Amino acid sequence: MFNIEEFDIKLDTEVIGRNFIYCDEVESTNSVLLSSKEFNQHGTVLLGEYQTKGRGRKGRNWVSNAGQNLTFSILLKNDIKDHKINLVNLGSSLVVSQALENLFQLNVELKWPNDVLVDKKKIAGILLDSTSKGNRINRIVLGIGINVNQSNFPGKFEIQPTSICKEFKGIVSRERLLSEILNLFEDMLGIWKKEPEKILNDWRNRCRLIGEKIKIVDGDKLKSGVFQDIDDEGFLVLKVGDKLEKIHFGDVSLR
Ligand code: BTN
Repeated sequence: MFNIEEFDIKLDTEVIGRNFIYCDEVESTNSVLLSSKEFNQHGTVLLGEYQTKGRGRKGRNWVSNAGQNLTFSILLKNDIKDHKINLVNLGSSLVVSQALENLFQLNVELKWPNDVLVDKKKIAGILLDSTSKGNRINRIVLGIGINVNQSNFPGKFEIQPTSICKEFKGIVSRERLLSEILNLFEDMLGIWKKEPEKILNDWRNRCRLIGEKIKIVDGDKLKSGVFQDIDDEGFLVLKVGDKLEKIHFGDVSLR
């Protein structure tokens, strides 16, 4: 059972997570915050102990044992329209990495666009959803799934999963971890608005595939080339022969 008091004591934000909603069971925290008229306040955080239809990137499922992990979403509404949306996506993966390093001294690596890996295994994933009015984004929902105290991952996966308890070798306080993430997340939002290039540079420093020969799979399309860089919007720049191509979606792996 998630102890809200223990979480609240360490929460040091002005806005993010001050409206905190806890649900035993929810379809998907992202789906709820994306369309809810009830939970409509900027900075709202919805934590679901169990998701019946947890969603991952590219239409995949996100499956997570009840009560052992963190599956939550953050709603952003204020002051979002003038900033590059994909950078807050990359920024969120940086926040999770920083929290895992601060609290558990884990050696974290990022895989484009925002998989969080430890020892090449996936420890957390992030899903950004948004809605628009006209051509303006009016709601961003950042959904974060972190494997915390789950020790077994039966099934087949694109990338082998792991959890903090497996890597850190001890039971982890989900409450302390969530407060750390939200504290760092609020700081990151300020950087996203004022110093977006810092997000890009920090992300580059945590990605070990830049400069490597990679392949990118998007549905039935496959592309190969050298991972040249990310551009100023956070999209992947692939060098194919002597041409540069901008990649918006796909699963990256070493060739
Ligand atoms: C991925 O790596 O494919 C992204 C996974 C994102 C999972 C989180 S769990 C909380 C939020 N609600 C969802 O339905 N998905 C995200």
